[in-house]
Order: sequence, then structure tokens, then C-alpha cells
Amino acid sequence: MQFELTEQQRMIKDLAADFAAREIAPIAAQMDEEERFPADVVKKMGELGFMGMNVPEQYGGAGLDMVCYVLAMEEISKACASTGVIMSVNNSLVCWPIETYGTEEQKVKWLTPLAKGEKLGAYCLSEPGAGTDAAAQTTMAKKDGDHWVLNGMKNFITNGANADTLIVFAHTDPELKHKGILAFIVDAKTEGFSVIRKEEKMGIRASDTAQLAFDNVRVPADQQLGPDGAGFKVAMSTLDGGRIGIASQALGISAAAYEAALEYSKVREQFGRPICKFQAIQWKIADMATRLEASRLLTYRAACAKDQGKRYSEEAAMAKLYASETSHFITNEAVQIFGGNGYSKEYPVERHFRDAKITEIYEGTSEAQRMVISAMELRK
Ligand code: CAA
Repeated sequence: MQFELTEQQRMIKDLAADFAAREIAPIAAQMDEEERFPADVVKKMGELGFMGMNVPEQYGGAGLDMVCYVLAMEEISKACASTGVIMSVNNSLVCWPIETYGTEEQKVKWLTPLAKGEKLGAYCLSEPGAGTDAAAQTTMAKKDGDHWVLNGMKNFITNGANADTLIVFAHTDPELKHKGILAFIVDAKTEGFSVIRKEEKMGIRASDTAQLAFDNVRVPADQQLGPDGAGFKVAMSTLDGGRIGIASQALGISAAAYEAALEYSKVREQFGRPICKFQAIQWKIADMATRLEASRLLTYRAACAKDQGKRYSEEAAMAKLYASETSHFITNEAVQIFGGNGYSKEYPVERHFRDAKITEIYEGTSEAQRMVISAMELRK
């Protein structure tokens, strides 16, 4: 066991931190306020290889390991959690399943532009009636000659209004339960696809979260992703990696809030001395630092397990559960340390506090992570 980053991993972390400090941090608060999608930033991230970090170079990716990806995700999310989730969805939820389950033709045609950042992806699983119960899909796929015809509705889809390429899950026969679900790659320009509305959100306001409609969307049969009946496995295994991405997003939010609170505690004076001289604040700092480090270790461990080719569902669920609940804890404590200033938009911890909440909800709620963890534990 060794806890040191390799030279390449450190280089990627520094590159991401430098890019985030120069290009993202200065505009993060304004993008949040205006709910402005960071199109220019995402384009530059594509040029730097951040949109397809684990994709092999032959398909336009950076060919890096999962640890590099979580390090970059943490740094980008530290500056702006909205930009973090845009990056995470494209890498984990869209590039990964095409690389893993796609045919050679699908990888060349669909994966390459996504990995280069020339196109943006979205992952369309959730529906109004299928949240944690992801198998309860009502979007239907019916075969019509050499096409599938999709009808239904998806909601809470990150990147949904800006995506070029969609991974869509649909049922062929509800009687077959999860075994009747198929996955498809869908071009967002296909007739019948539309964005119904964008959510107005508490946090991650610079990323779009959309409700999408599929009205007789005709998808060529060669755009089915993975074999018949395997759609639910495609969805679940994809989310395993996605959860590591969200754990690193939560880690970035926690780190940003913690560092801001630490610095503030050294300069804010009450009763004639900096507030960090009071034990009440020192204990908060100790708890925040310890939980931040524990989140980091769980997240890096999950990334290492994925790099080693092991099944990492439980490691990913634990990392996501702990890092997201910790981001809730740390951002709350950070606001508390800032006092009245923490509640004001003048200071960044107010945004971090709002951004943290969603990490306990999307890509599987904390309750869903506990279901995954307990199921794996009980099977041992
Ligand atoms: N990898 C591969 N296969 C898996 C798997 C995994 N991680 N997890 C489950 N499966 C397989 C099982 O082996 C089983 O297969 P068999 O029938 O062949 O044995 C099958 O899938 C069904 O498994 P379960 O019985 O465990 O499934 P379930 O219906 O009870 O669901 C659950 C379990 C944990 C609740 C799961 O549905 C789940 O994770 N729900 C949360 C969904 C979620 O995370 N949604 C977020 C969507 S994305 C998003 O948030 C929006 C965005 O844009 C970011």
C-alpha cells in the first residue's frame, strides 16, 4: 500500500488546479447567479483532454487512469461544482458505457467526438416515476424494421438541454422487468426529441438539468448499446463509475469550503483575537479536516479499484455516500464559521453549501448507496 501520487497523477492535478484557478474560479459565482452554462470553459476543457480522460487515445481521449480523473474532477469542482458535474457526466456516464459496451463503429462515430470534447453527452435514465427504482422505466422502445421507436419522458437530466449525444434507456416489455430494458445512443438532433423545460435549482445552477421528451424518436438499430436485455446492467455498471465522479465532485466542494473557512478563521477577530484561537472553532476545523481526508481516501480507493479492473460497486457507493454526506457537513460548518457573512452571497461558502446538497441525491441518493452497500455486505 502506498499513498503517494505518481508523477503523472500529480501533473494532471496541477494542470486541473491551474486551469480551474485561471479560467473557472473567477467566473463561478457569476455563472451560478445567472444560471449560465459554461460553454467556453467546457470547450477549453475538451482541448485539454478533460472531457474524455479515461478514453483510449485511439478514440480521442487522454488515455489516463481513474485516479487522474478524480484528481482533476476534485480540482475543477473546487472552483465550480456545476462545471464538475458537466465534466463528470460526459466522462463517466456517456464516454464510459460507449467505450465499454459499444461496437467498434459506435466508438469511432460516437465516442471520439465526445472524448475530444467536440460533442457533449447526457445520460437519460431517470423518469418522473423511475428515480431510485430505476427499473420502473416507462419510456418504451418498439422495433420497426431496422429502427427502434422511442416514446416517453426523462427528467432531471444533467446536460440535457446542451447535449449532442444521449444515452437513453427504454423498456421493450415491462413484463420482463429489468431484463426488458435496452440502452441506446441517440443523436439529440433526431426528430421527435425535445427539451420540455429546464429545472430552476438550489445549487449547481450553471449546469442545466432538463426534462426531455421522446415522441416517436426513430433510432437506427445499430445505435443500440449493448446486447438485448442488458440495458439495466449497462445503466447500473455505468453508475458505479459515475458515483466515483460525484464523490470527487463532493470532495472538491468540501475542500473549497474547508479552505475558505480555515483562512477566514485566522483573520476574523472577535473578543480581541482571531476566532481560530477559540476551541469551538478548533474542534470544527479538526472534524472538517478529518472527514475531508476520509472522503479523499475512500474516493481514491474506489478509483484505484476501478483501475485494477476489480468490481468496484461497493467502493464507489461508499465513496459517494461518505463524500457527499461529508460535503453537507463541511459546507454547513463552513457557513457557521463565517457566521452572518457565510449566509451572504458575498462569500463563496453560501454557494458551496447550496451545491453540496445535490451530491446526496443524484446518481443514486444516499439511501440507494446504502442499499447497494448493505446488499454487497450481506452477500459476503
Ligand atoms: N453492475 C452490473 N449489474 C448490476 C449492478 C451493477 N452495479 N447493480 C445491479 N446489477 C444487476 C444485478 O446483478 C441484477 O441482475 P440479474 O437479474 O441478472 O441478477 C439486476 O441488475 C437487478 O439488480 P437489483 O435487483 O439489485 O436491482 P433493483 O431494481 O433492486 O435496484 C438499486 C437496486 C440499488 C435501487 C438501483 O436501482 C439503483 O442504484 N437505483 C438508483 C438509480 C440512480 O442512481 N439514478 C440516478 C440516475 S442518473 C442522475 O442522477 C441524473 C444525472 O444526469 C446525473
